[in-house]
Order: sequence, then C-alpha cells, then structure tokens
Amino acid sequence: TWTMGNIIDDQVAAIQAQVGSAEVICGLSGGVDSAVAAALVHKAVGDQLTCVFVDHGLLRAGEAEQVERDYVAATGIKLKVVDASERFLAALAGVTDPEEKRKIIGREFIRVFEAAAREIASAGDVQFLVQGTLYPDVVESGGGTGTANIKSHHNVGGLPDDLQFKLVEPLRTLFKDEVRALGATLGLPEEMVWRHPFPGPGLAIRIIGAVDRERLDILRAADKIGREELTAAGLDRDVWQFPVVLLADVRSVGVQGDGRTYGHPVVLRPVSSEDAMTADWSRLPYDVIAKISTRITNEVREVNRVVLDVTSKPPGTIEWE
Ligand code: XMP
Repeated sequence: TWTMGNIIDDQVAAIQAQVGSAEVICGLSGGVDSAVAAALVHKAVGDQLTCVFVDHGLLRAGEAEQVERDYVAATGIKLKVVDASERFLAALAGVTDPEEKRKIIGREFIRVFEAAAREIASAGDVQFLVQGTLYPDVVESGGGTGTANIKSHHNVGGLPDDLQFKLVEPLRTLFKDEVRALGATLGLPEEMVWRHPFPGPGLAIRIIGAVDRERLDILRAADKIGREELTAAGLDRDVWQFPVVLLADVRSVGVQGDGRTYGHPVVLRPVSSEDAMTADWSRLPYDVIAKISTRITNEVREVNRVVLDVTSKPPGTIEWE
C-alpha cells in the first residue's frame, strides 16, 4: 500500500542515490513546498544540506520567526538567514507600479540568494539545488527535469552560468494535499503545513501605493487580526486565501476614540478557489467579518475603515496588484 511512510522512504533513497556525498542548498520561502522538500532532503543527507532564507521584510507577522525558529527546531536543518529587508525597502522606495514592484523584488531576491549561495559554495562542493516543484508545476511546464537554473518561487530569471546546479525535486510526483500530509508526518509546524498560498512578492503587492516600513507594519497588524479570527472561527480550510489589502494612498474621515480621524481603509479579500485560476469571494459569516472589522479599527490606529471585496475572478484577480 501507498502510505506517507513509503513515500518518505522512497524519496529518501532516491535523494541519497542522486546526491551521493555532494553538498546541497535550498531556498526557503516560508511556504509549505520548499519546507517539505528541504525536510525530505535533510532526512536523506543531513548536514550536507544548507538552507537559505532570504528575509525580504515583506512576509506576514510571525512568518520569518516560523522559519528561523520553529522550522529549524522541528527539523534540525542548517539554516543561513539573510536579513535583506533594508535592501528590499530601499529598492522599492517610491515604486507604485505592480509589475515594477515584482521586477525589483525578483531581481533583488536573485542577487541576495546568489551571494548567499556563493558563500556556501565556496566552503564546499555544492552541486545540487532543492526545488519544491509539485506535479501540477511539472505538467504545466511540459515535463522535463531541470539540470541548470533556479526557478524560484518568485518566478524570475536564473543564477548566472558559473553557478549552475542540478535540481533535486522530491515533490515532483505529488499534489498539494499530499505535500501537506507529508509535512505533517515530518513534524513541520502546523501553520506552515496549512499556510494559504502566498505570493513571492509578499505584502508589497498588497499595499496599493508605495511600500515602506510603516505601511508594512500597518498591514501586518491588520492581516494578523484577519488570520487570527479566521482561524478562531474554524474557517481556515474553507478559504483558499485571505488577502488583506492596504489602500495606502486613500484616506477617509472617521471617528475613533474621542476624535475625528483621517485614516486608511483596508480591504478584506477572502476567496474560495480550486486552483487560483478562477475564484469566488467567500461568503464568510457576517459575525466573523464584524469581529475582524471591530478589532482592526480598535487595534490598528491608522485604519479607520474596513471594506469587503465581493468580486469574483474573473473579472477581479485574487490579489489587488
Ligand atoms: P491573481 O491575483 O492573479 O493570483 O488572481 C493568482 C494566484 O497567484 C498568486 N500570485 C503570485 N504568486 N508571485 C507569486 O509567487 C506573484 O507575483 C504573484 N501574484 C499573484 C496569488 O496570491 C494567487 O494565489
């Protein structure tokens, strides 16, 4: 019979056969795919694996800590953390165009990852790069296993020719739900295993307007409340994704505490979907929405209005940018 234990044993043997005694690196994003792929490789080759986590400063509350602390505690993986948030923020300063934001983030990510990879590679014989490619990605890109360049979760470019890797892709035959089950069996943190899809460019494309540290902090606080209340209502697995979007250049008048305020709106964008190609707005219970709205306007001083996005995809995309 085909069990999680079998999959793990088979993959461990296959990875050992492929990698031998060479060194391996893996970029962690905070998402489940790279986390499970790395955990499998670690099980197979232990400290021959070094993971790299580029903290671009655009993750949600608690997510960097989840990788740096909980994931490392659960797996014992050797992790190199690069705190690059200053660099990403400097590169993003004043940029409002969504595609421009993506381009900058992709470019900076590759530069930072490449520098970290070089450091690790100069210390040993690194020949392999782990990728959390799933079966649907394989089908979409027409099969064929890669031998060369990185295809990162940011969907951008590749490492230069002198930094080529053979790919280790232990999830190539699996679907998302199988990857989650595998992650749970491997003892990964629950929040990571069940994390909703989250875009590589992170919160930068959920701030409508230019991105800066203060705006990120506002959005992070509002987003955290949305996630907490969705979880408290037991609705995490009914919702595909729940972006919270900050309309950073919009202000409206409100009354909060004992005074008039001129704050920002946030948009709640919970959607249900099968594959993100199409989506419908989630009919969350009104009392859950009410609780989120009350908490955000009470607890996040800069936000005085909460609105609900009731647009399906198409015509609206899931993200606002
Ligand atoms: P849209 O907004 O196009 O999103 O309906 C569809 C799915 O893709 C995710 N998304 C991204 N993922 N880099 C990513 O890695 C991106 O630039 C990006 N933009 C959107 C989005 O969160 C949803 O799951």
